[in-house]
Amino acid sequence: MTLPTVFLTRALPSEVLAKLQPYAQAEIWPEETPPPYETLCQKAAQVDAIITMLCDRIDAPLIQSCKNLKVISQMAVGYDNIDLQAAAQHHIAVGNTPGVLTETTADLAWGLLMAAARRIVEADNEVRNGIWRPWGPDVLTGQDIYGATLGIIGFGRIGQAMARRARGFDMRILYYDIQRNPTAEQTLGVLFTPLEDLLKQSDFISIHAYLNQQTYRMIGRPQFECMKPTAVLINTARGAMVDPDALAWALQEGRIAAAGIDVFDPEPMPANSPLLAMRNLVITPHIASASKQTRLRMAFMTIENVIAGLQGLPLPYPVPLPT
Ligand code: GLV
Ligand code: GLV
Repeated sequence: MTLPTVFLTRALPSEVLAKLQPYAQAEIWPEETPPPYETLCQKAAQVDAIITMLCDRIDAPLIQSCKNLKVISQMAVGYDNIDLQAAAQHHIAVGNTPGVLTETTADLAWGLLMAAARRIVEADNEVRNGIWRPWGPDVLTGQDIYGATLGIIGFGRIGQAMARRARGFDMRILYYDIQRNPTAEQTLGVLFTPLEDLLKQSDFISIHAYLNQQTYRMIGRPQFECMKPTAVLINTARGAMVDPDALAWALQEGRIAAAGIDVFDPEPMPANSPLLAMRNLVITPHIASASKQTRLRMAFMTIENVIAGLQGLPLPYPVPLPT
């Protein structure tokens, strides 16, 4: 009996691959950069399962060309790169890796918040460039975090993890989501606030929503215009929720004080982006879930989803498909 086949768009740790071995024959894309779209289409058309990363475009034409594909197993919590409608039409299961990366992602969001507020990267750069300014009343002054107001946009697992961190800093915590969460309001002491009010009142604004048609470009010029000039924006969700030109404008014009972003639209960020010259921006290259422990857990979950999907069983970590 021949084993089913799996195409992995990136190599995974050997202990993870060992778990897959009895169930499937794996072909692994060997590069650090994603396979080109054409290659991805060719491979997907031939195999029974694919393991994908968030930078792989799994659109309707790709899905339609697949003959045997039973499962798309994404190594991420977000899945905006996958056309769920097309997957549902072709009866292909889609899995993701929710939950395990919640705290790790909130840790990085918190790190960006602290770094942007207190100008840590800017200060580090100065020192490395031979500029240790004498202590002075106004040297590298930033924004207070302790006791400030945090506005959380998207109050799922990661948004709530962010709120727990903010409680340790005695912050007033506002949240906006399409769904109110009365239980969390009680247990975390957070206040549901319409988006515009949240933007007006917050000292820190942190985005933790899924990217979809409703959240695409939800922060643009009009939203920056609502914010305090001392506000700090943090985005560890998806770059496309923030208009990149409006972000550059807001930072350049001092419409807000600073930003910390782990995600951008597009990724990688273009080398000629005006944002790269801005000292009031802290940038990391989409690494919010990148702890060794969490990435290992995510890799195991993608394998568990593949094994179940190949056997025609419900995925342990399914993405709900449109009906
Ligand atoms: C990372 O961005 C993820 O969605 O897991
Ligand atoms: C992801 O874990 C979320 O916040 O929904």
